[in-house]
Order: sequence, then C-alpha cells, then structure tokens
Amino acid sequence: MKIAVCGKGGVGKSTISALVVQALLDRERTVLAIDADPSPHLARLLGISQENVTPIAAMKNLLQERSERNGPFYNMNPRVGDLPEKFMKRHGRLSLMVLGAIPQGGAGCACAENAVLRNLLNCLLVSKGEDIVLDMEAGVEHLGRGTIASVDHIIIVVQPYRGSIETAGKIEKLAKDLKIKSLHVVANNVQDETDVDFIRDMCGVEPVGVFPFSPLARKAEREAMPIAAADEVLLDAAQSMIDTLGPSL
Ligand SMILES: Nc1ncnc2c1ncn2[C@@H]1O[C@H](COP(=O)(O)OP(=O)(O)O)[C@@H](O)[C@H]1O
Ligand SMILES: [Mg+2]
Repeated sequence: MKIAVCGKGGVGKSTISALVVQALLDRERTVLAIDADPSPHLARLLGISQENVTPIAAMKNLLQERSERNGPFYNMNPRVGDLPEKFMKRHGRLSLMVLGAIPQGGAGCACAENAVLRNLLNCLLVSKGEDIVLDMEAGVEHLGRGTIASVDHIIIVVQPYRGSIETAGKIEKLAKDLKIKSLHVVANNVQDETDVDFIRDMCGVEPVGVFPFSPLARKAEREAMPIAAADEVLLDAAQSMIDTLGPSL
C-alpha cells in the first residue's frame, strides 16, 4: 500500500513516517520511504545515510526536459519510469528516495518536482508485501497540485492544539476533492486523555493512532539518533496504528 503522511509543519510527520517505516520492516515487508520534504531528514530518523542519494530536485536538466515549461504551464506528464533505480538508495528491505530541496521564495515553484513525484507515485506499483511511505512537505500545497492523488491512505498528523487541526481540516477538504477515501487522523505529542478528547472533538473522528509525548524522541533528535530504536513506546504506537489500518495491508 501507499501511505502519505501529511500535516502542518513540525507536527511530527517525519517522526511518524520513520516509525511507520520501521514498524512495516519489522513485519518483514519491503518498504520504499520517500522524503518529499524540501528540507529532508527522514534518512537521519531512519538511521541510514542519504549520502550518494541523488535528490530528484537536483536533476534540474532532467526535470526541465521532462516537465518542459510550455508558456505558463508545465507538462504534467513527465516520463519517470526509469527514475526509481537511479534515485533509490537500498538498505536491505528498505529503500530511500529524496525529492530534495525546492527553491524557496518568489522564484521558487515546486511544480516540476511535484509533477515528477506524482508520476512516480502513479507508476510505482506495489506488489503484495511492499509498501511506500511518503513523508510529505508541510501544509496543503502538494494536495492542491494533486501530487498524492494515487495513494491508498493519507495520514494527517495533528497535535492537541487548534492550529494543527485547522491545517488538518484543509488537508481533509483537498483530499476529498481528490476523491481520496482513506483519510486518517493521527494524534501526536499527546500528554493525557484530555488531549485525545480534544483531537477527537475537533476532528470529529477517532484517531487511527495515538503517539505520546516522548522525552526520548526529543533526546534522539538532539543526538541525531534513529527514532524507532530510541523509544519502544512510539514504535508500539506505530504497530497498533498499522494493525488498525490492517485489513488494507
Ligand atoms: N511524540 C513526540 N514526542 C516528543 N517530541 C516529538 C514527538 N514527535 C515529534 N517530536 C519532535 O518534534 C520535532 C518536529 O518533528 P518532525 O517529525 O520533524 O515534524 P515534521 O516532519 O512534521 O516537521 C522534532 O524535534 C521531533 O523530535
Ligand atoms: Mg518533516
């Protein structure tokens, strides 16, 4: 299955993506992790090196060629079938791809990168026993561009505060426009039951996963250590979330 992890900046998308990847690997699955954040650090959270990984965005000529700009429009069907092998770094049953830095500011537009990512997602077929986990860019722009229209599940990470839940609402609306049926809310940084109640009430759904606040996650981040090995409680939370998503695996 293909899972995209979305949400406001800093809510824990990369942390939860890395935990989901590890939880799937622990089930003997083969996983392709795609870091689609313009400032990528999924590799660090997974405890692998992204050295020698060619970021898709760095392949400017290739992107220009393949998403050739035609007046104000991009060709939205760049060819990507040969990309996976070139841009993947393999670590046993785990492979990593990095979308890479997208230029920021007025001149920066991620249309080309997103067009390539979208086509890539469309053409990557997952067989039984394989999964793709996408750690998405913060916010909602990528949904507007339809980048992840072909995923099976969208996981929206929220924390128990209004701002993150408002972003989740925008994501939900855009995902529905894209006719993505399988949307889930995941609660992160939860300190007690009132936090879960707040999220449940604000979102109007039961979170498919609940990840507690973890001092060990904070420590692991500071020490640049992989997250899954740092806190078993968080890894357990990812395992139960996958159990809940289970029937579609
Ligand atoms: N459950 C948690 N407990 C403690 N710290 C967390 C938790 N989840 C995420 N963090 C911390 O919050 C920060 C942002 O997390 P990150 O996964 O990078 O968010 P995002 O990818 O959404 O920007 C990181 O420093 C991370 O270690
Ligand atoms: Mg991130």
